[in-house]
Amino acid sequence: MRGGYAVRPAAVSDAEALGQVHTAIWREAYAGLLPADYLDALSAEDAAHRWRLRLEVDEPEALVAVATAGEDEEIVGLATGGPTRDEDAPTVWELYAINVLAAHHGTGLADELVAAVVGDRPASLWVLVDNARAQAFYRRHGFAPDGAAKVHEGTGAPEIRMVRGAAAPAH
Ligand SMILES: CC(C)(COP(=O)(O)OP(=O)(O)OC[C@H]1O[C@@H](n2cnc3c(N)ncnc32)[C@H](O)[C@@H]1OP(=O)(O)O)[C@@H](O)C(=O)NCCC(=O)NCCS
Repeated sequence: MRGGYAVRPAAVSDAEALGQVHTAIWREAYAGLLPADYLDALSAEDAAHRWRLRLEVDEPEALVAVATAGEDEEIVGLATGGPTRDEDAPTVWELYAINVLAAHHGTGLADELVAAVVGDRPASLWVLVDNARAQAFYRRHGFAPDGAAKVHEGTGAPEIRMVRGAAAPAH
């Protein structure tokens, strides 16, 4: 991939770096979209702990990919997908999360992450109503809102579901 980027499956030994980069991306990407006190309270250590549990034992069917940059292979992004968590699932697969540091937006790296954890599967995802960049990115990957809505657990911020390739509902 151009720019010295690479995408590979995450290892348990990535947990600490994933916690740091995940927290950093949330703080830079969601300033203005989620309350400052919620973002200030995020802990890289807690996030690393959750990543370690997730990579060690949780969700064996889920895929977790990391994106690295440069010769020292610094982690600059992550994505994870797996069996949907929605009761009214329109698709079997869900893109749970995709996060890339802003310095690496617009490079094509996020496209590679989608390829790694979703591929060409039908899939669904949840995105903040106000996250216009992510929604444009998902539209380019064939996703469209299906009318489902909920609120983000930690903050109450509104979210919509976007779906691609779902079978038409049976009547
Ligand atoms: C979402 C994310 C993975 C997309 O990766 P990216 O490299 O930024 O995406 P791209 O640059 O390839 O595509 C972004 C699209 O948004 C468009 N865009 C950029 N800023 C925009 C804005 N403010 N409003 C609307 N569209 C915008 C771009 O023109 C581009 O559309 P195009 O491909 O049709 O030209 C990345 O931005 C990210 O990690 N963001 C922070 C975390 C996040 O929001 N994750 C998603 C949670 S659901």
